[in-house]
Amino acid sequence: MKVVVIGGAGYIGAHVVKALLDKDHQVKVYDNLSTGQEINYFNGVENVVADILDYPSLVKELLGFDAVIHLAAFKAVGESMEFPEKYSINNIMGTLNVLNAMTATKVPYFVFSSSAAIFGEGNGEPIGEEALKAPSNYYGFTKLEIERFLAWYDRLKDIKSISLRYFNAAGYDPSGTIKGLERNPANLIPVIMEAAFGIRSELVIFGNDYPTTDGTCIRDYIHVSDLAEAHVKALDYLVLHNQSMSLNLGTGRGLSVQEIYDEAVHVHGSVIPMRYGERRDGDPSQLIAASSKAQSVLGWTPQYSDRETLIKTTYQAYQRYYQSK
Ligand code: UFG
Repeated sequence: MKVVVIGGAGYIGAHVVKALLDKDHQVKVYDNLSTGQEINYFNGVENVVADILDYPSLVKELLGFDAVIHLAAFKAVGESMEFPEKYSINNIMGTLNVLNAMTATKVPYFVFSSSAAIFGEGNGEPIGEEALKAPSNYYGFTKLEIERFLAWYDRLKDIKSISLRYFNAAGYDPSGTIKGLERNPANLIPVIMEAAFGIRSELVIFGNDYPTTDGTCIRDYIHVSDLAEAHVKALDYLVLHNQSMSLNLGTGRGLSVQEIYDEAVHVHGSVIPMRYGERRDGDPSQLIAASSKAQSVLGWTPQYSDRETLIKTTYQAYQRYYQSK
């Protein structure tokens, strides 16, 4: 298939591009390079540096393609509460531009990066596709709104879509071909890596008085290469069944912040500076996916999402990056 990957230069996007190329799809990357991540140059991939707010450019670049995978979004939960207008413009208006450009150019298939953030706090049980959608931040709201638009674009314009709701994306390509690192990361594992490699002074664990076994929050970490694989399978599904849906992507298992930190110390081979701090506003104690639907519908099984592989592949990516500097 001929696929445009919007946001294909980013962390998850680059892994998706690799997974598509591994299955012999033809890929064009459309990205404004706004996160400052170093672009991965893959053989045979055209890189278009442009913004999703540039509608004429979208129309020009989408013409003649079979599918769009759209990952370009702002994703910092805290920032979305402070600057919601930034999230309205990029995540909502930008995505509507993409859908309108697909309508104009008759691109039939769409895979959308949605998020577990659409569910909000949850009730401590594994979260299935039909669980209550009550985003507790504006970022999650933008993702949920797009899922709702997609139902209408399917009904009115016959755009078939799969929304993939990522739980906690983590890890790096085990083969070592993805090179860029996110700048100023706020997510747990990159923060631990920066503390290990001396880029920041320490990791602050946000709260160790939660009602969990070790007192730290539990999340469902899903390896980015497993996520990438799900995108390729979602495209296959759309072509075969021509049917829209939403899928939760996680492992169905949780790891605590403490367990992640301990594994990182193990892989690093020495202590990583850490202290326990205050809880972070809006952090639910536990978020775990019930992801059996994705497994049965797509025939997708996470391969790399065990604790050791998540940490080791990230550690190796940081090692490669800083050794090459
Ligand atoms: N954490 C720390 N210290 C840090 C960073 C994180 O203790 O410096 C803790 C958090 O408090 C939380 C856990 O590590 O308990 C994971 O936090 P992240 O910031 O890595 O991830 P979140 O679970 O907050 O959110 C991530 C994505 C969201 C997405 C969500 C879906 O950033 O975009 O997963 O589950 F919506």
